[in-house]
Amino acid sequence: MSLIAAGEPRQKITVASLREKKLHHQPITCLTAYDYPSARLVDEAAVDMVLVGDSLAQAVLGHENTLSVTIEEMLHHTRAARRGVKHALLVGDMPFGSYQIDAAEAIRNAARAVKEAGAEVVKVEGGEKRADLIHRIIDAEIPVAGHIGLTPQSVNVMGGYRVQGKSLSAVEQLMRDATALDRAGVAFIVLEGIPREVAAMITAEVKTPTIGIGAGPDCDGQVLVIHDILNLTFEPPAKFVHRYGDMKALITGAIQAFRDDVAGRHYPADEESYHLPRETRTALETVLERKQAMRR
Ligand code: KIV
Repeated sequence: MSLIAAGEPRQKITVASLREKKLHHQPITCLTAYDYPSARLVDEAAVDMVLVGDSLAQAVLGHENTLSVTIEEMLHHTRAARRGVKHALLVGDMPFGSYQIDAAEAIRNAARAVKEAGAEVVKVEGGEKRADLIHRIIDAEIPVAGHIGLTPQSVNVMGGYRVQGKSLSAVEQLMRDATALDRAGVAFIVLEGIPREVAAMITAEVKTPTIGIGAGPDCDGQVLVIHDILNLTFEPPAKFVHRYGDMKALITGAIQAFRDDVAGRHYPADEESYHLPRETRTALETVLERKQAMRR
């Protein structure tokens, strides 16, 4: 059920409205989108945030992980999503290598996401150790979102995609990460792949909205990858993924039906064909008849 009454004008979602939602215990919704049609559909469905995630790498570009996606690719897809988004907050991921080198380069790349692609918030992975950098980007007037727990850009350091924050020391580190981001003034904190008990503790502790993915139901909001909820992926889904539709079956069925129709000469039919205007057709028939008569 939508909380927005029919005909009620939709408000533009801002960083401030996310805080309001947390304050009023209203769940925040976020989905990824990487192009104009999907971003437009997500926006029109009144989802609060559209995230052009670096999951673009696997979901759309067919890479094995997020590490190889470039800033140019992220900008290209963020621009496309921008054209489809009117009310949602548009968040663009900073890809691996675009903010780790130094603060000046991070600010330059974050500014490109805003200026050249229309992102309203940029997201960087990492907690305590990124707090100073995040502070500097925010100081350059660019809202930043944090992302802690299972951070996919650290896949090689983590040795795979594993649930984080299982030991007491790991829980303590996650709490330090979350409070450092909270103090740095991030727009929201993505909590990925952590036990729900830890996500609940963080959510209760920080003023910043928390957005969970594989972090249980007690976060201030939830984000999922759109291709995962639509079954438009080729790998078995993670435990936390809920399939809300089966686009793979729909697309495969449509493609096979097209192939069969063309092979069986059922497509295109006469209704799907253009026709000559009646006068041209009559004139053409006359010409053809004359030619035939001359050949006899
Ligand atoms: O890239 C992405 O899609 C993300 C979400 C999983 C939060 O960062």
